[in-house]
Amino acid sequence: SIIKVKDTLDRPLRDLRISVIDRCNFRCQYCMPAEIFNESFKFLPRSELLSYEEIERVAKIFASLGVEKLRITGGEPLLRKNLPHLIKNLSKIEGIHDIGLTTNGVFLKRYASELKEAGLHRVNVSLDSMNDELFKKINDRNVGTGPVIEGILAARDAGLGVKVNMVVKKGLNESEILPMAMFCKKEGLQLRYIEFMDVGSTNGWQMDNVITKKQIVEMLAAEFELEPVDPDYYGEVAKRYRYKGTDTEVGFITSVSESFCGSCTRARISAKGDIYTCLFNGNGHDIKSLLRSGMTDEELTRHIASIWNHRSDRYSDERAEGKNKGQEKIEMSYIGG
Ligand code: GTP
Ligand code: 5AD
Ligand code: SF4
Ligand code: SF4
Repeated sequence: SIIKVKDTLDRPLRDLRISVIDRCNFRCQYCMPAEIFNESFKFLPRSELLSYEEIERVAKIFASLGVEKLRITGGEPLLRKNLPHLIKNLSKIEGIHDIGLTTNGVFLKRYASELKEAGLHRVNVSLDSMNDELFKKINDRNVGTGPVIEGILAARDAGLGVKVNMVVKKGLNESEILPMAMFCKKEGLQLRYIEFMDVGSTNGWQMDNVITKKQIVEMLAAEFELEPVDPDYYGEVAKRYRYKGTDTEVGFITSVSESFCGSCTRARISAKGDIYTCLFNGNGHDIKSLLRSGMTDEELTRHIASIWNHRSDRYSDERAEGKNKGQEKIEMSYIGG
């Protein structure tokens, strides 16, 4: 049976983002800068990660509190062994009708059909540039766009829903705004431009680095005719437009210029097993020790319900209001965005 919980701002709990690993094969400057995530950086040992059994148990409990959508993230989730096995078990949970995966796409070609068979519905693939040299500079691992594009096309051919995520950072990749649009439009893929956010404390975020939705829409309008599309469901993150005369859409994730905390229904669980009630609230709630302490499902359910009931986070709204400077945050690679 499903008990629906609400937070202090009356927001229901609908989505759970699950980070399955803190490692990544890329070192994107805005997420895992190589100076910090270097050879001496201590990633989590396997025993510190939630096991698949533990993730499944937590996901079931979240589903009993109203969660309908799951998203698997990382680090790079495809670095975790046997991920299709996890997807398969998650897809059997009552009440879960959407499972997505957010990935850098490098290993997608290898796993696309297996993931689809396991019950995955959709993938969101990060690609910040069509230009090989620039892409190599961004990922800092000398990987060109080829494997990612092959991954994207393989996922589409395997029958997975595919969206392409492009983080836009001024001075880095604004030259790629139009080339990315052309490529995705040609392939019929939904591209989402993501405003560069102040996640974590290592990415050197400044307001000056942000290119807003409004600026991007102006650039696109010079080339294409766009018409707005209504949201698919309450709390959808991206604002979408359609290229007139086509079925292809383009979206914007406007965490900075038009924040969307009012309808934020997302909980997150880190690879380490802490629950976070906001991408920007570094105050995690340790669930791993509780899982490993012999707590019953009923006790855990009550505990998680209470965490959600006490939630008051609205970080991006507060940022827009000029509040909330200097609060402790969690790194993107632990929480998967
Ligand atoms: P779907 O809409 O289900 O396709 O997924 P999504 O867009 O929510 O997930 P994805 O992992 O593709 O994230 C895209 C971008 O949105 C990333 O930069 C995330 O960090 C950002 N994002 C997702 N949820 C939130 C949120 O609740 N708050 C903020 N500020 N950003 C978010
Ligand atoms: N701002 C906005 N989006 C980011 N991502 C990673 N770091 C940032 C940031 N600082 C994106 C990734 C991926 C998604 C999970 O989050 O590119 O698409
Ligand atoms: Fe890896 Fe994605 Fe972070 Fe880049 S943005 S370092 S691909 S987790
Ligand atoms: Fe939700 Fe926090 Fe993002 Fe606002 S900033 S939409 S509360 S995760």
